[in-house]
Amino acid sequence: MPKLTIDNREIEVPAGPQVIAAAEQLGIMIPRFCYHPALGAVGACRVCAVKFEEGPVKGIEMSCMVDARDGMRVSTTDPEAVDFRRQVIEWLMLNHPHDCPVCDEGGHCLLQDMTVSGGHGIRRYEGSKRTHMDQDLGPLVQHEMNRCIQCYRCVRFYREYAGYHDLGVMGIGSRVYFGRMESGTLQSPFSGNLIDICPTGVFTDKPSRFIGRRWDFERRPSICIHCSLGCHVTTSVHLREVVRQEARVNPTINGHFICDRGRYGFDYAGHPDRPRMARLHGRNGAPHEALAAARESLAGVSDRHGAGALAVMGGTRGSLETLLALKHLCRKGGWADPVFWLDGRQTRVMKAVAELYRPETAADPMDLATADMILAIGVDPLNEAPMLAPAMRLAARNGGRIFMAHPGPLSLPFAARHLMGSPGAFDRLLSAGVNLLKGPKGEEGLLETTAATAWPDPGAAVEMLRNLQQSKRPVILVGSDLAGVGTVVLAATLARVAAPRQAKVLNVLPGANAMAAALMDESGQAFTDVLTRMETGDVKALVLAECDPLWDFPDRRRLEAAMRSLETLVVLDCVDTAAARLAHILIPTQTVFESGGVYVNAAGRTQRAGTLFTGGLPIRRTGNGGHPPRLFGRDIPGADIPPAWQALWRMAEPDSRLEPEAVLESICLGQPDLLTQQDSGRFPADRIKPAGESREAEADESAEWETGPDAFRLLLADEIFGVEILSSRSPCLQRMEPEPRLWMSATDARELGFNDGGWVQIQSNGATMAVRLTVSGRMTPGFLSLPRLRGSGWQIFDRRSPVLAKRNISRREKGNE
Ligand code: SF4
Ligand code: FES
Repeated sequence: MPKLTIDNREIEVPAGPQVIAAAEQLGIMIPRFCYHPALGAVGACRVCAVKFEEGPVKGIEMSCMVDARDGMRVSTTDPEAVDFRRQVIEWLMLNHPHDCPVCDEGGHCLLQDMTVSGGHGIRRYEGSKRTHMDQDLGPLVQHEMNRCIQCYRCVRFYREYAGYHDLGVMGIGSRVYFGRMESGTLQSPFSGNLIDICPTGVFTDKPSRFIGRRWDFERRPSICIHCSLGCHVTTSVHLREVVRQEARVNPTINGHFICDRGRYGFDYAGHPDRPRMARLHGRNGAPHEALAAARESLAGVSDRHGAGALAVMGGTRGSLETLLALKHLCRKGGWADPVFWLDGRQTRVMKAVAELYRPETAADPMDLATADMILAIGVDPLNEAPMLAPAMRLAARNGGRIFMAHPGPLSLPFAARHLMGSPGAFDRLLSAGVNLLKGPKGEEGLLETTAATAWPDPGAAVEMLRNLQQSKRPVILVGSDLAGVGTVVLAATLARVAAPRQAKVLNVLPGANAMAAALMDESGQAFTDVLTRMETGDVKALVLAECDPLWDFPDRRRLEAAMRSLETLVVLDCVDTAAARLAHILIPTQTVFESGGVYVNAAGRTQRAGTLFTGGLPIRRTGNGGHPPRLFGRDIPGADIPPAWQALWRMAEPDSRLEPEAVLESICLGQPDLLTQQDSGRFPADRIKPAGESREAEADESAEWETGPDAFRLLLADEIFGVEILSSRSPCLQRMEPEPRLWMSATDARELGFNDGGWVQIQSNGATMAVRLTVSGRMTPGFLSLPRLRGSGWQIFDRRSPVLAKRNISRREKGNE
C-alpha cells in the first residue's frame, strides 16, 4: 500500500487511486472540472495542478493524472501550484459569459466556486468572447453552449458511461462544440445526469428553469419510488412544491446517477388534479370526515354481510408503514389479509421471491457492474429498472459477458448476447445451468448435451453455459413479469449451487415496495380472487390503499363493472386515479415527499425516505401564478392531508390517542426497529415471518407460452416513460412517451405479408385494436409485443389468451374506424 504525504499529512492508500482521490480521503478537495469519480480522469481542464516536491514525480503536475505512489510528497498550497491554478481559471473565464445572475447553475456551479476561491475576480481580457448557437435538446435538458469549459464530462458520461451516441463533441481548437448533429430530443433515458455532471451551466434542468436558486430550495435526501431499485435522490422543494431531483451518491444501488424517470417523475406531487379534499358520495369534505364515513360504512357492511364481505388491496408503491397499518386494519376488523398482487401467477411468483430471499446471495444493482457474467432471464432492464442498464454496461466494458434470455425486442445500451426464445423455455435454460454446475467436472461433452435440450438455439445455450461454468462472479437477473415460480426457484437454486463462485441473484419486482409486500403477504390470494367474489356478490366492500387495479388490470371493462356493483368502495391515494374517481369515499393521502417512509428495494435493502416538507397547496397555485394572497394564519392551505398509514390507523383505532411514534411502534407487529433500520441495511426477512425453506419444487408453466400456427402470444411490455403510474403524471415525461407500436418478428411478418410501419389489427377474446407495426429481427417468432402505454388501449388484452394478427389495413382505413 503506497504511503504518501499531502500537505504535510500522511496517508496510506490501496494501490490504484490518483493523487486527487487520495487527497479527498484526507478531506483535501483539490479543484477539478474534468475529473469525476465515476468517469475517471482525462487531464483536460488543468485545474487540479499540485506541486510534487519529493518522490517519483517532481514539479507541477495534474493530480488527477498521477497515481498515488510510495514516497510522494505533495503540496496543494505551494505558491507555484496556486498561481498555476489561478491562471487556468483566468483562461477558462476568457470565453465564459459572466451571466451568473441569469444562469440556473448559479449557486451550485463548480466554475463559479473555483473562480471565487481561485482568486480570479477582475477580468483583464478585453476582446470579444467566442459564442455558439444553442440547441433544443428536448423537454428535459436546457443547452447553453457559451458556458462550456471543455472538460468533456458530458460526452464521457453520455457516450462511454451511459452508452448513447446522439450527443458528441465536434470542432477543433478553441471552437469545440458539445451537442447533437442537429437540435432534437436527447435519446438517452439518462440524459438528466448531464445536468448534475456538467461543472458549469451548459446543461441545466429545463422543467425547473428560472424557478429559484439552490439556496432558495429546501433540499433533503430521499428515495426514488418509480421502480424497485430505490435509487438515492436529493429532492428540492420550493414554496410547497417539489421542483427538482438530483442523483445522490450511493455505491451499492445507483452509484452517482439516476434515470430520467426517477429524476422527472415527481410532478404527481404538485399536480393540479391531485386529490386535496376528501370526497364522500360525490361531495367534497375534510379528510377526518371521510375517515369517519369510511369507518362507519365498512362497519355497516361487516354487520350486514359478515367480515368476509370486505376485501383490501395494498399498493406496492406504499411505504412499509402503510403496508403494516393496512394489515393492522384487516386484523382489527377481522377481515381477510390485504392482497397485493393482481393475479394468481404474480402472487405465486412473489411468494417464491420472498421465501427464497437470502441476504447473502442478494445482488445489489451495482454488483452487476463488477460481475464477469450476467444471465438475465425475462427482464428488460432499461424499461423495468432503468439503472440496471448502466451497471450492466460497466460489466460489459470490463469484459463481462451478458446473456439476455427474452422473447421481446430489447433495446440495450451495452453489448449482450440476446437469447431469443419463449418464456416457456426459461426453466430449461436455468435447469441446464444447475445441472452443469452440479455435474461431474471435466466430463467430456456434458456441456453440449446439457445445452442441446435447454434452448431453441443450442449454440447460444452452449455459449452461455460455457461462460457460466468459467465465471467467478456471476449474477442472475430475473424479471417478475415473464418468469414463473419455477424460474424464480431455479434462479435461486443456481445462485446457491454457484455460491462458491460468489454468485448472486436479483429479482426485478413490480413496485418500489414490492419486496416488503412480498415478505409480509400472508393472504396467498390475488386480486382476481377478490374480483370473482365481487362478481358473485360475496365481496360488498373494497378498500384500495395507494393502488389502482384499473391502471394495470387487463380486462378493464369487467373490473369497472364489478367495482360499480360494490356497496362501498374506499380509496386512499395521493393521485387522481380511475379507481379514485369511482370511489364512494376518497381519502387523500400525503406523497412520499411529505410523509417519508421506509421502502425495501428489490435487493432487500431497507431504506428510509425522509420527510421533506409539510405539504399544502403550492404557492404558485394559491396565487394563480402571481403573488399569493396576503392572508396571515397558522394553517397551511391543503396541508390537512394525513399520511396513508395514519389514515389507516385512525380507521382501525378511532379512539386511540397515541402519538405518531407510538402508533408506528404499535402497527409494527411488535417489531418497531423495522422502521428505524439504517439506510441500506438488509431487510431482516425473518422478522416479519420466518424465512421459508429452500424450495426445490419446479412448477412447469411452459404450456402457458405455447404458440400455435394461427395465434400469437402477446407480451405486454414496459416502457421507461408512460407505463409507471406516478411518473406518467409528469408533463415533461409525457412528451418523451413513444408512439404505441406492435412488434412482430421478421419471419412472421414475411409469412403474413405484413410491412414494417403498416397498420395491423390484433384480436383476442373478441377485443380488437389497430396499431402500427414494427418488424424486427430481434423478436421471437410466434410472439407479439405491445407496450402498456397509458391511454393506448392495451387493457383489452389478456396476454394469457392467444392473439390473432388479422390483416394489414391502410392508414386511411384506420382513420375511418
Ligand atoms: Fe428511480 Fe428506478 Fe430510475 Fe432508480 S432506476 S431512479 S429507482 S426509476
Ligand atoms: Fe485534472 Fe481536469 S481535473 S485536469
